[in-house]
Order: sequence, then structure tokens, then C-alpha cells
Amino acid sequence: MSEALLKDSYGRAIRDLRVSVTDRCNFRCFYCLPHGSPEETAPKAALLTYEEIERAVEVFASLGVEKVRITGGEPMLRRDIETLVAKLARVEGVKDLALTTNGFNLAERAAGLKAAGLDRVTVSLDSLRRAAFTEMTGVDMLSRVLEGIRAAQRVGLNPVKVNAVVVRGHNEGEVADFAAFAREHAVDVRFIEYMPLDSGHGWSRERVVSGAEIRQAINERFPMVSKRVERGSETATRYRFADGAPGEIGIIAPVTEPFCGACSRVRLTADGQIRTCLFSKVEHSLRDVLRSGANPAETADYIRSVVLKKEPRHYINETHFEQPARTMSLIGG
Ligand code: GTP
Ligand code: 5AD
Ligand code: SF4
Repeated sequence: MSEALLKDSYGRAIRDLRVSVTDRCNFRCFYCLPHGSPEETAPKAALLTYEEIERAVEVFASLGVEKVRITGGEPMLRRDIETLVAKLARVEGVKDLALTTNGFNLAERAAGLKAAGLDRVTVSLDSLRRAAFTEMTGVDMLSRVLEGIRAAQRVGLNPVKVNAVVVRGHNEGEVADFAAFAREHAVDVRFIEYMPLDSGHGWSRERVVSGAEIRQAINERFPMVSKRVERGSETATRYRFADGAPGEIGIIAPVTEPFCGACSRVRLTADGQIRTCLFSKVEHSLRDVLRSGANPAETADYIRSVVLKKEPRHYINETHFEQPARTMSLIGG
């Protein structure tokens, strides 16, 4: 690992940058952006260009960032995303280039993304049942997403990870079925606790299915053993199946088992704002800095000063918790 040049005021090294490339999405997952909610999409001129994103990533990488994840909205809605992938794959110091997608056109695009230099994809998939999938996402696209996952595996965008947000009253009964899916398809299924980041403000503690409940539901059908890997700054606790079946399970429990103490992440929104936490109340305009003609050293100084303002943790479990103004569809997960 290269020397960590980017440290926050709590001593956490920043190694992971998540870049949103658009705030538009063609799904309407209720836990993110529910039906009918107006999309506050940024005007085109406000969006960072691919050249600006490349310049930003170069500076972050020069400061020790090694992991870059392209997110949205839905990143495949941004024109020629492969062009950006190719640019970022060439940035020195970037060792892991991933992309999060809802999978709607992955079947057609997987090979091109791989050829452009993408290392791997994470596909959001909340239900394996057509009716429940449609109810949760607002679109009838389960079979396309499944085809996308298969295509990503076929072209070697490995490991393919599948993200399922578990919400009581919707898909908590499918947890063990998802584990069966992980085994059958040799993918890494990660269950995510529902966080208060939805524009409909429909979140409530009762609807959060805890990591402990998820673990139990899987263990009842497919006993798991903890993977003895250093967790580091990872969001997920990882398990394999005790019987040696392929596939892996990850449990991401930000609400009941917060992992902020080892957080290595900062985010860049599509309109060029740095968010130092998913739950940040303030943003920092890297776009203004990039457009002011700052050179890489000046840009690096700015990024260092922003990272020093990184929040210690989220406050979801405090009584005075307030949701951030931007929803997940505008932050990118
Ligand atoms: P890998 O590098 O593949 O392990 O990625 P990751 O662990 O960052 O996971 P991914 O990008 O797939 O994120 C999965 C989900 O975890 C996101 O959609 C969020 O719901 C949640 N998540 C990711 N990062 C954070 C974080 O920093 N804080 C909190 N509270 N939740 C996060
Ligand atoms: N809680 C937890 N995760 C969420 N995501 C979106 N909204 C939420 C939420 N309210 C995650 C999903 C999706 C990714 C882009 O963001 O995992 O895969
Ligand atoms: Fe990091 Fe904020 Fe997520 Fe905690 S909530 S892990 S501090 S981004």
C-alpha cells in the first residue's frame, strides 16, 4: 500500500473515492427515489466533464486513493461511460476500479466495460421474484438484470457482487433464497440494512432488518463461517458457506453495527461536490476549484483541507438525527 497522504482529523486514511457521474436514474427504488418524486437533476453545465473527473481522480490517486467506484444515479445513463472508464483505468495508483449499476443494460455493455479497463461491477438486486422486484424498483426488469449479472461474470468483471437492501414488509422473506442464489451462481451477495436516505422519508427503525436477523435467516438454511480476513475499512462482514459451496455472503449493517471508525471513503457528486460522509450536511465544491484553473498541487491542498472536515460518524441512532438533504440517488451509495 502506498503511503497514506490523505488523513482526516481522526487519523483515518482515505483510500476510497466514490464518483457519481449522473443523478438520473431509470429505476424508482422506493428506498432511494420513490415513484413520482421529482428528480432534482443538475443542469448539464453543472456536471463535471469526463476530463474534470479524470483530473480530480489523478489528484486523489496522487494522495493515496487506490479504490475508485463509479456510481450514479445510474452511471450507464451517462453517455459513453466506457470513455470515462478507460480514462480512470489509466490513472496511476488506481488499483481497483469498480462500478455500481442497477443492471438494466449490463447484458449489452459488460464486454465493452471490461475492454475499457473496468475491474468489476456491483449490481443492485432486491428481489428474485418478478412481482416483488417490480414493486420495489418500479420497473419490470428482473430478467434483464439477471442476464446482466450473467454477462458480467462471463466477461470476467469479477468478483460480481449483488447488493440487496433488505426492508421489512418487502423482501425480508427472501434472504435465504438470495443465499441459494449466491451458491448457485457463485456470486457475492451483500445484504444492506435500510438507511434513512430516501426522498420519500419512508424510513423507520421498524423497517430496518438487522444484520443479526439476516445472519440468522441464512444460517438456518445454509450454515456460514466467518471469513478470516482483515476487515480493514470494508463495509461488509464476510462469510463463506460451511459446506464449501461457491459464493459469498456479505452483511452491511450501518444502522445496527456501524463501521464509521474505520471509514476510508469520500464521495464526489455528479455536480462536483465532495461529500466527506454519506450523511454530510455540508458539501465542498471541488468543481469550483477545478474550474478556477487550480493546478494539481493546489487541488491537492484543497482536497486535504476538505478531508480534515470529515465527520466522525453518522448519527442515525441518535434521537436528533436529521436526514441529509440529498437522497441516495443523488449521492450514489
Ligand atoms: P467493495 O469495494 O466492493 O467492498 O464496495 P463497498 O463495500 O464500498 O460496497 P458497495 O459500493 O457495494 O456499497 C454497498 C452499500 O453499502 C452502499 O450502497 C451503501 O448502502 C452502503 N455503504 C457503502 N459505503 C458506505 C459508507 O461509507 N457508509 C455507510 N453508512 N454505508 C455505506
Ligand atoms: N439504504 C441502504 N442502501 C441504499 N441504497 C440506496 N438507497 C439506500 C438506502 N436507503 C444502495 C443500494 C444500491 C446502491 C446504489 O445504494 O444498495 O445498490
Ligand atoms: Fe463513513 Fe459516514 Fe459511512 Fe460512517 S456514515 S462509514 S463516516 S461515510
